[in-house]
Amino acid sequence: MAEAAHTHSRGILLPVAEVERQRGIMDQIAASAGGRYWVNTYGCQMNVRDSQTLAGMLEEMSYEKASKQDEADLILFNTCCVRENAERRVFGNIGHLQSLKKERPGLIVGVCGCMMQQDGSAERLLKSAPFVNLIFGTQSLYRFPELLQGALNGERPIAIESDPQGVIAEGLPAQREGNARAFVNIMFGCNNFCSYCIVPYVRGRERSRATEDILREIEALSVQGIKEVTLLGQNVNSYAPQGGGSFPKLLKRLEGLVPRLRFMTSHPKDLSDELIEAMAGSKTVCPQLHLPVQAGSNVILQAMNRGYTREKYLELIQKLRAAVPDIGLSTDFIAGFPGETEEDFAQTLNLCTQARFDSAFTFIYSRRSGTKAAEMEGQVPSKVQHERLSRLIALQEGITAKRLRAMEGKEYELLIEDHSRRGKQDFMGRTGSGIAVNLRGGGLRPGDFVRAKMVASGANTLRGELLSQ
Ligand code: SAH
Ligand code: SF4
Ligand code: F3S
Repeated sequence: MAEAAHTHSRGILLPVAEVERQRGIMDQIAASAGGRYWVNTYGCQMNVRDSQTLAGMLEEMSYEKASKQDEADLILFNTCCVRENAERRVFGNIGHLQSLKKERPGLIVGVCGCMMQQDGSAERLLKSAPFVNLIFGTQSLYRFPELLQGALNGERPIAIESDPQGVIAEGLPAQREGNARAFVNIMFGCNNFCSYCIVPYVRGRERSRATEDILREIEALSVQGIKEVTLLGQNVNSYAPQGGGSFPKLLKRLEGLVPRLRFMTSHPKDLSDELIEAMAGSKTVCPQLHLPVQAGSNVILQAMNRGYTREKYLELIQKLRAAVPDIGLSTDFIAGFPGETEEDFAQTLNLCTQARFDSAFTFIYSRRSGTKAAEMEGQVPSKVQHERLSRLIALQEGITAKRLRAMEGKEYELLIEDHSRRGKQDFMGRTGSGIAVNLRGGGLRPGDFVRAKMVASGANTLRGELLSQ
């Protein structure tokens, strides 16, 4: 049976008693259930981090990670709805489970994440996939143990929190894969309402974690041997914990806790001189910034409600490069926003050339119902959008290749992240500026710092030779 949305007492921090109640349920499930789980994660780092919380809870409930989806007793889909193709993939992949579910009626299928927060989404899903056992939105993540217990008892729990205010749940477990790098949330939600974007509707209002809680989490990660932490938020520059504080101040508090600190995402409208100074003066913060520009025409930037002009953006980049030499800069672009003319798009190409990004994520505008832009006139035909996107991609590819070539012959410190796909002796390490470098080195392990000389460059990566360990 569908269950009414659970209401919590007002206030940003979820009461400790509620976290303890969920922990109590975890203990009950751990004593009786168990099995193997599989989590499919779509979308951005926020979802990756949320999936780590789900996996952490599952392991405390004595579930083990399955080696593949078909062998799992519990399958979760942590969904994204930022663009239409993300949604289509989710529906397709859930649909594929129908036959598995027929073979194994005891299989539990849960769907959560951003897509479920959209109005009517849960109903639509149940129509197309009536075998789904539980559904919950981003704001109900902490209630997963209770919802799973319902599903194990044969109910069909649905928990979509409609209050956009949202809460912060401290003290939930996390199962982080990999042993060198970790994501740490510093804030949740978004207040910016860029006119194309669904995120503020599905992630609720901005709320910042207390500095002490962030500090404690990173200290614990450091003890576990984590070498690099990426601070997460939709707009980290507006970090504002209750009782005062700011993002540059937070960075200063975190100085030296782990060897490398990165953060994403930064909104250009809130990137202060104080933050640039904090980056320049830090040994811990990596010389790297993801600074989504979205478009290069002031008319379009305004229609997107971005709060800056192309001139302001280019000036920011200049300041950053002056203050942080060799800073790695990446961005996001949207091609074919409603009303975008050929001239507007030429401005985007021009900005791309001037900014000389190391890399860029390029997207075709996707109409998201409920957002302002979905109602705008002048929706650009798909063929034009695709054609513009491919011109932008070709331009950026040339710039990326050139910037990588300019790094040949130079030496950098790399953090070894992983084995590369080639073989056991081959590794992938990253420069502080965020560039991936492939290199050969027997005996290396993820988490090692090495110095390497760049000997060749490819489309997106460099090849390096080990100098020392
Ligand atoms: N909070 C981050 C990113 C959120 S979503 C920020 O503000 O930068 C990541 C990227 O998806 C955005 O930067 C944007 O480029 C893209 N995006 C968001 N909504 C989109 C839409 N409706 N169509 C196409 N791309 C979109
Ligand atoms: Fe979306 Fe804009 Fe918020 Fe980023 S800042 S999540 S693009 S509304
Ligand atoms: Fe997608 Fe939600 Fe992230 S919509 S991009 S997973 S915040």
